Amino acid sequence: MINLALLYGGRSAEREVSIAGAGEVEKALDRDKYMIFRYDAATELEGLVHDAHRLDCVFILLHGRFGEDGTVQGLLDLLDLPYQSSGVLGSAVSMDKHVSKVLYREAGLLTPVWKRIKKGLEYDLFEIVSETALPVVVKPSSQGSSVGIGLVHREDELEEAIKEAFRWDSEVIVEQYVKGREITGGVLGLEKMEALPIVEIVPGEGFAFFDYEAKYKPGATREICPAELDKGLSRMAQEAALKAHGALGLSIYSRTDMIISDEGDIYCIETNTIPGMTPTSLFPQAAKVHGLSFSALLDRLIELAIKRKGRRYTQRPL
Ligand SMILES: Nc1ncnc2c1ncn2[C@@H]1O[C@H](COP(=O)(O)OP(=O)(O)O)[C@@H](O)[C@H]1O
Ligand SMILES: [Mg+2]
Repeated sequence: MINLALLYGGRSAEREVSIAGAGEVEKALDRDKYMIFRYDAATELEGLVHDAHRLDCVFILLHGRFGEDGTVQGLLDLLDLPYQSSGVLGSAVSMDKHVSKVLYREAGLLTPVWKRIKKGLEYDLFEIVSETALPVVVKPSSQGSSVGIGLVHREDELEEAIKEAFRWDSEVIVEQYVKGREITGGVLGLEKMEALPIVEIVPGEGFAFFDYEAKYKPGATREICPAELDKGLSRMAQEAALKAHGALGLSIYSRTDMIISDEGDIYCIETNTIPGMTPTSLFPQAAKVHGLSFSALLDRLIELAIKRKGRRYTQRPL
């Protein structure tokens, strides 16, 4: 029997998404294998610390800040507890869209041209627009679920979009909008990573792009897995997801959002280190096509977490 803690809830803008995910995970976990303990990261971290000695593994179901960003991973490292997400550094790096893009570029991956701006420092709208070219997507550098993101077509709308993004973070990126097909690529493994089948995300009519409502409103988007791409392109997208995972220093699993431009180039947008975990979420859907049911996927993530921990003191921490 594995004593498994579900760490969910938390304080980020994605609290509700996390709570829904935790319910689904709890339902799908095999009770013959796991004794489940639940901790809301917003109010019950002390309880988790207190119980650490009797827990075998933590399943982190937190998205965004204080969960997906390395903070919780650091706490669990201190408590000597295995968990299924990437480690401190990879989690922190992936939470920051600017830093992720620097590392994508360094690894030879394509990522849309962008400009980072910091709250309190002056910025020149004209300069931003001339470097990125309109339309642009304005986003808080570290957020998720499209919170605070705006699509801007005209220079006179840019200031407002930047202000909105600054409500969520003190750093904002203004990124060239890439027209094309939106896809996402999951990878899974420990030493040898496997790429899952690519999923294509088709926003419903009336959604300018994949915004918060389009993401969470049932039926607002169509998700196609395996994506209907030719074999070569699909393989290239899988390679990009694997490369992004490596470039950001991730382990066990991740899901990289990409856009295939009308010219057929694959641009990396961001990498999620704790992708959504309901049976109909993107990563679980792709895992299913790969032959892993939702329950089998959870088993595998927990198994990898425990296995990684076993190696922790003989190798460089992942
Ligand atoms: N450069 C871009 N070009 C076109 N669409 C984009 C671009 N950046 C983001 N988007 C759209 O906005 C959505 C959310 O952006 P993303 O960077 O993935 O942030 P989040 O962390 O909120 O998921 C994407 O899924 C995509 O639909
Ligand atoms: Mg995204």
